[in-house]
Amino acid sequence: MFSKQVVAFAMALATAEAAYQGFNYGSTNVDGSSKYQADYETEFQTAKNLVGTSGFTSARLYTMIQGGTTNDPIQAIPAAISEDTSLLLGLWASGGNMANEIAALKSAIGKYDSLSKQVIGISVGSEDMYRNSVTGSKSGAGPGLGPEELVDYIKEVRAAIAGTSLSGVSIGHVDTWDAWTNSSNAAVIDALDWLGFDGYPYFQLTMANGIDNAKELFEESVQKTQSVAKGKEVWITETGWPVSGPKEGDAVASIANAQEYWNQVACPLLGNTNTWWYLLDDAGASPSFGVTSGPSNTTPLYDLSCKSVNSTSSSSAAGSEKSAVNSSGSSSSGSTSGASSTGASSTGASSGSVSSDTGASSFSTTSVASSTPLTSATKAAGSSSGSGSSAGSSAGSSSGSSSGSSSGSGSSSGSSSGSAASASSTQFNSASRASGSVFGAIVAAVVLGIAV
Ligand SMILES: *[C@@H]1O[C@H](CO)[C@@H](O)[C@H](O)[C@H]1NC(C)=O
Ligand SMILES: *[C@@H]1O[C@H](CO)[C@@H](O)[C@H](O)[C@H]1NC(C)=O
Ligand SMILES: *[C@@H]1O[C@H](CO)[C@@H](O)[C@H](O)[C@H]1NC(C)=O
Repeated sequence: MFSKQVVAFAMALATAEAAYQGFNYGSTNVDGSSKYQADYETEFQTAKNLVGTSGFTSARLYTMIQGGTTNDPIQAIPAAISEDTSLLLGLWASGGNMANEIAALKSAIGKYDSLSKQVIGISVGSEDMYRNSVTGSKSGAGPGLGPEELVDYIKEVRAAIAGTSLSGVSIGHVDTWDAWTNSSNAAVIDALDWLGFDGYPYFQLTMANGIDNAKELFEESVQKTQSVAKGKEVWITETGWPVSGPKEGDAVASIANAQEYWNQVACPLLGNTNTWWYLLDDAGASPSFGVTSGPSNTTPLYDLSCKSVNSTSSSSAAGSEKSAVNSSGSSSSGSTSGASSTGASSTGASSGSVSSDTGASSFSTTSVASSTPLTSATKAAGSSSGSGSSAGSSAGSSSGSSSGSSSGSGSSSGSSSGSAASASSTQFNSASRASGSVFGAIVAAVVLGIAV
């Protein structure tokens, strides 16, 4: 028995060493301003020093281009090198700026000799197929890409790194799970080394999505993605639960529920599956998904230690406090949990969207709409994403009552309808697009119902 435990423990350690864990980092601050090297260094240091935890030494990026430039490499790269933070690089593929994204990638390879030591993968695009879907376009998610264009871009990126220090780096694409399970997109899966999964039960408006069902919704959508992955690895590129923001279906944004989601979803993943949580910090956004209240605040809003994981099946755990936790919670809003998951209300109808295309900081709210009751045989998936710039800062979302106050750029929306549903989006700042940089932000929600 003892030796068996030792072996199991050793294997767990080995696995832990093999899995990357970190956060998503947009290229702009919540106010829409560009981040520079020092800003990324601060964030990477904060992630590594979050009280009560360790190992958050990886960063997923959405664009290769530094804000305010045409195609200079993003300054998150030198920051990652100085902080020894690994990088899941991203090229923003939608919107017609891939030539500059690839130019920035090539410049980075030429400029940073140690780049290959930091880069653990490259994502060609983020939620492009989602934005190209029926629900994505219906909700004004912004420009997306069809599978053929995406496959071409994947080939271009493979060609761009061939013969360079990054030639051995694996290539993937990040999208919402319902985009992966859409069989029309199968050619993209064939062209990749791994699939990036984005999923947010909080936005899964077409079914009971209270915190008590969140783990199940998450796992179900991961399994569906794995079932179409043709044996390729599925990396968890975005998921999270907001500490504040509007109620979405049964989902209540609160620190207590974010704690519960962390315990039930993050803790089992960390050390076992490559995971980039959404998100380190986005104070000021609504909903706000950040685990901490500011880029340099190493005291998390809730306990990230996973020590109370085994007691989380009861909602009481969410309320337990740890020394590492700053429970004074600035952002707690709305009601706090416990009661959030009655599982009663949801199905049916919810819709709406929050959108903005300013790339900077304003948001407008528009309602989109739709509703159709679901049957128990219907599955739903939610997702959200961020783009080049403000992923980190806006997490727009939606639902019937969406409040549109996220800052940052981009847009997001969610809506749901019986068997297909809604979503999220990203849009570009037309000014930045013109100048060649990606702006936009995002998040949104996708709720897709799939009849089984
Ligand atoms: C499935 O994917 C194709 C290709 O990306 C897209 O045109 C279509 O709209 C998607 N289907 C749905 C229901 O969104
Ligand atoms: C949960 O953890 C506590 C201490 O951390 C331990 O006493 C208890 O036995 C654990 N429960 C289960 C079901 O593992
Ligand atoms: C806890 O959070 C509150 C609100 O964000 C903040 O004012 C306070 O300084 C934090 N305390 C610590 C110890 O970080």
